[in-house]
Amino acid sequence: MALQNDLLIRVANGLPVDRPPVWLMRQAGRFLHEYRAVRERAGSFRNMISNPDLAAEVTLQPVELIGVDAAIIFSDILVVPEAMGLPYDMAKGEGPVFNQTVRDEGALLKLKQVEGRSNLDDTFEAIKLVKRDLGGRVPLIGFAGAPWTIFCYMTEGGSSKTYSLAKKMLYTQPDFSHRLLQKITDTTIQYLKGQIQSGVDIVQVFDSWAGLLSREAYQTFALPYLEQIAEAIRDVPVILFPKGAGHCLDLFSGLPCAAVGLDWTTEPELAATCLPQKALQGNMDPSELYANPDVVYARTTSMLDRFPKGRHIANLGHGIAPDLPRESVMAFVQAVKDYRYNR
Ligand code: CP3
Repeated sequence: MALQNDLLIRVANGLPVDRPPVWLMRQAGRFLHEYRAVRERAGSFRNMISNPDLAAEVTLQPVELIGVDAAIIFSDILVVPEAMGLPYDMAKGEGPVFNQTVRDEGALLKLKQVEGRSNLDDTFEAIKLVKRDLGGRVPLIGFAGAPWTIFCYMTEGGSSKTYSLAKKMLYTQPDFSHRLLQKITDTTIQYLKGQIQSGVDIVQVFDSWAGLLSREAYQTFALPYLEQIAEAIRDVPVILFPKGAGHCLDLFSGLPCAAVGLDWTTEPELAATCLPQKALQGNMDPSELYANPDVVYARTTSMLDRFPKGRHIANLGHGIAPDLPRESVMAFVQAVKDYRYNR
């Protein structure tokens, strides 16, 4: 079905637009009381992910309630390690917890290849429902975690401030690390292709922990795997979001991706120069949305002024915090929708 609002896809494909498209990382989330109500009904976050009807319902919420220019399928990057044989739980106040980790040969050999039915089918099913319900109103974004970020969770077994164990493994067991990164990459490509077959219009790869690596380590342990993903996904545009990677942004110019996401520590002008062929996504600090709506509106407009015309996807520099005031989130979205390139 043809898209009625295809701004996001146009920018990703380098086609002209009269304003930037806008969507928000973690737009389907706790800052909406409507989301919290569904989670209450579901009993847990995990139940929402594994129930395609509920996942579809919360995916549509920000489109209907906030008026964003794209939906992002409700799921989590951690469904990939789960499909590989590492189940996880979402502990209150702690984030994800895996009861097994992958730190040695034995654990690596035990990892599964996804064949036949798996938990990933829940996401595919949810995508089909969302596409039906959207009826082409806006594009649907699929996503996965980047291999380095997934490696962090699989080796550490949960969240960490420094991921020092994951980093140590890169230097003490480089061959093992590469083999694990390759297995993650293979499953991720399979997962993204399944999402595309199910109907997503574009995909984003989240490298949330990119900023932990030196430029050299990023080139060795992260970039080659992102390159494999970008090479393999040719049917829809790919957005790569390497959070905290201002120190190696230029490395992305050689990858076959449509867009690169920036966090708020990277200057848009600098990114525009080092990535002349890419669309840029971002990059307001989500904390700025704690300000009152008038301030947010004005700040958003000045952010838009700093990005190259027609090459920008407006977003935050990372996910929305659960306690951000809805009026300010609305002001962010409205400022983008009121903006015009030809004023
Ligand atoms: O709206 C959307 O953006 C789509 C849904 C989405 C979720 N997670 C739902 C979610 C997306 C794109 C993600 C990606 C994700 N998950 C990332 C990459 C983006 C980033 O934030 O850097 C990461 C690192 C994860 C892993 C993860 N999931 C963590 C560390 C946590 C706990 C922290 C937290 O915010 O509570 C989650 C839980 C999670 N994933 C929630 C949501 C809506 C909150 C769960 C809840 O409702 O309690």
